Amino acid sequence: MGTAANQVSKVSIVGAGSVGVAIAYAALIRGSAGVIAMYDIDGTRTRAEVLDLGHGSQFVPGAQVIGSDDVAITAGSDIVVVTAGAKQRPGQSRLELAEANVRMTRALTPQLLQHSPGAILLFVTNPVDIVTMAALRAGSGDRSRIFGSGTLLDTSRLRYLIARRVDLAVSNVHAYIVGEHGDSEITLWSSAIIGGTPLTEYRTDTGRVFDEVEREAISRSVVDAADEIIRGKGATNLAIGLSTVHIIEAILRDQRVILPVSTLQNGALGIDGVCLSLPTVVSARGARQVLDVPVSDEERAALHASAATLQQTQERLGL
Ligand code: 2OP
Repeated sequence: MGTAANQVSKVSIVGAGSVGVAIAYAALIRGSAGVIAMYDIDGTRTRAEVLDLGHGSQFVPGAQVIGSDDVAITAGSDIVVVTAGAKQRPGQSRLELAEANVRMTRALTPQLLQHSPGAILLFVTNPVDIVTMAALRAGSGDRSRIFGSGTLLDTSRLRYLIARRVDLAVSNVHAYIVGEHGDSEITLWSSAIIGGTPLTEYRTDTGRVFDEVEREAISRSVVDAADEIIRGKGATNLAIGLSTVHIIEAILRDQRVILPVSTLQNGALGIDGVCLSLPTVVSARGARQVLDVPVSDEERAALHASAATLQQTQERLGL
């Protein structure tokens, strides 16, 4: 790991589009890594983004920003984050991007591992669960070292909406979105907590806040969030940038934080053979130790339906 005293940590970002740049920008501002390398087949765009980021060096903790249209720029990375690929158009679901992005992932993964055999590969490209599965099939080595950003962003959207509803800091809210990062994702209301109080019991002067109608509206709002942003500005990029950097720091700083990231499931909650998100310990060793979180019967059924949706897409794509 590049975090040893005399080594500089290197994070490479594949794809210099709006998501890749938002990740680089967040990492630069937070001082997450010593070297940030951008790789994109569009060399002119990459050089421009690298210049623009580098010109802010005086105002940030200090990192070297480099970039190229040659994949060799990623060599020796501690983490390679993949954001490249076709992106959603308004009204399109994440799963509709699958074919093109799976093809790209199959070609790219062996090259990335060849240049950085010790790296953790973190996939952000959508549909992230399917793309992560394609990378695992195309890659080799420790499976905990290839995973996807999954429902961390959706979980952050959920916590934001809950906190705003009761006018509290987001850090007081513990709740997860699990399953597919997409239309079949599930809110785990039964284990949601606000400051030690089960969310469903949480009261203000006017009584219980999160009744079924309220919960349903919040879940729907999380599922629809990306589409709303895509309709308004063409893509989502800033919050995914911050949430991806949260994962990067969990790895580089060996934080052992529990995050809903997309990993190949192996029996947790009865799910097997698909990549989807469940609360998982993330550390310098990657994403391992999926938590067997308590779920209601309804949540379990919805999670199995989400897994079945992903399974069907996997089969269609020969994964
Ligand atoms: C998001 O949820 C589009 O997956 C992207 O913002």
